[in-house]
Amino acid sequence: MSLLITGGTGYIGSHTVVELLALDKDIVIVDNLSNSSTLVLDRIKEITGKTVTFIKADICDEQAMDQVFSEHNIDAVIHFAGLKAVGESSEIPLSYYHNNVSGSVTLLQVMAKHQVKNLVFSSSATVYGENNESPLVETMPTSATNPYGQTKLMIENILFDLAKSDASWSIACLRYFNPIGAHESGLIGENPNGIPNNLLPYVSQVAVGRLPQLQVFGDDYDTVDGTGVRDYIHVVDLAIGHVKAVEKLTEISGCKPINLGTGNGTSVLEIVNSFREISGQEIPYSVQPRRAGDIATVFANAEVANKLLGWHAQRDLNAMITDTWRWQSNNPNGFE
Ligand code: NAD
Ligand code: WQD
Repeated sequence: MSLLITGGTGYIGSHTVVELLALDKDIVIVDNLSNSSTLVLDRIKEITGKTVTFIKADICDEQAMDQVFSEHNIDAVIHFAGLKAVGESSEIPLSYYHNNVSGSVTLLQVMAKHQVKNLVFSSSATVYGENNESPLVETMPTSATNPYGQTKLMIENILFDLAKSDASWSIACLRYFNPIGAHESGLIGENPNGIPNNLLPYVSQVAVGRLPQLQVFGDDYDTVDGTGVRDYIHVVDLAIGHVKAVEKLTEISGCKPINLGTGNGTSVLEIVNSFREISGQEIPYSVQPRRAGDIATVFANAEVANKLLGWHAQRDLNAMITDTWRWQSNNPNGFE
């Protein structure tokens, strides 16, 4: 029996593959390499001493996906594949709806055809929209403020409808908060194309000298120091959350939304100060107006993950930043 990992050469997928290989799972990765490289596979082998089956394919390609399920005895799917840049999603919304929503529907149709009805899906805290107060709980109403968020919400709704229509589906809809950090080997980590949108890759590229300075988006929020507060979670903790979710799928009937966060909030300036201390590098920054669509504070209530999966985040902010810096300083130009 094998696990199919869509988007498995990406940031979160590659860390999850490493944790699954440690448990001797057979892995088939499908990725179209639109935001990753096969160099990741060499690094996974270096860390684990194990190889995976890699298939370069697009989840939107029904024939290719059908072939994957015909040729491999797939037991469950962890579905990471998707486009994820919030700003870009407003510029090219159709690409996001096609890739993320149509791609997921195609994947689900092929899964149903092959009677594979166990799924872990990469959702996001973005589905809580801007009207809920943290700590965010899975029962709160959902909404979206940009096309990327809409795609996650639409896929979640498709999954709820699917599970309602056919009780033999077991689906864990994992709502990630802000994944950061890297594997402690320093061999795999986040490798954004172009100028990063997210805080941590931006800060680490300033620290390593690739970018001149950070723009801090707003210092007049009602938070500890006026800057935005988020629930940063170590990518290895997130990866372990996926392992637990796959293991518990047989106990899940229907579609279960599950927050994966630490339950703690950290401000932008707290991140900058920790990064400066840990890396020993200067992090020049200037305060800019608030970024459109941002809210002051986002953090999780992580009790459902604890109760249902027996999971809680174990790595603290110090480990997240130490591991980010090891990855960035050992690989200043990513995998190249
Ligand atoms: P990533 O871009 O590093 O990984 C996604 C992978 O999917 C890439 O390797 C890309 O090449 C592949 N891919 C994209 N479209 C594809 C397609 N049509 N067919 C096959 N492969 C395709 O991103 P990540 O940070 O690892 O995110 C993984 C998932 O988690 C995404 O669905 C993302 O929306 C979700 N998520 C990410 C974050 C975050 O902050 N990183 C937060 C919440 C949710
Ligand atoms: C964090 C904080 C910014 C960059 C995004 C997506 C969300 C999810 C995770 C996928 C905020 C501030 C940032 C910078 C800054 N992704 N910031 N200068 O916005 O919480 O979440 O990634 O599902 O959907 O929206 O993360 O890292 O962009 O921002 O001051 O250059 O850092 O204002 O307070 P965000 P982020």
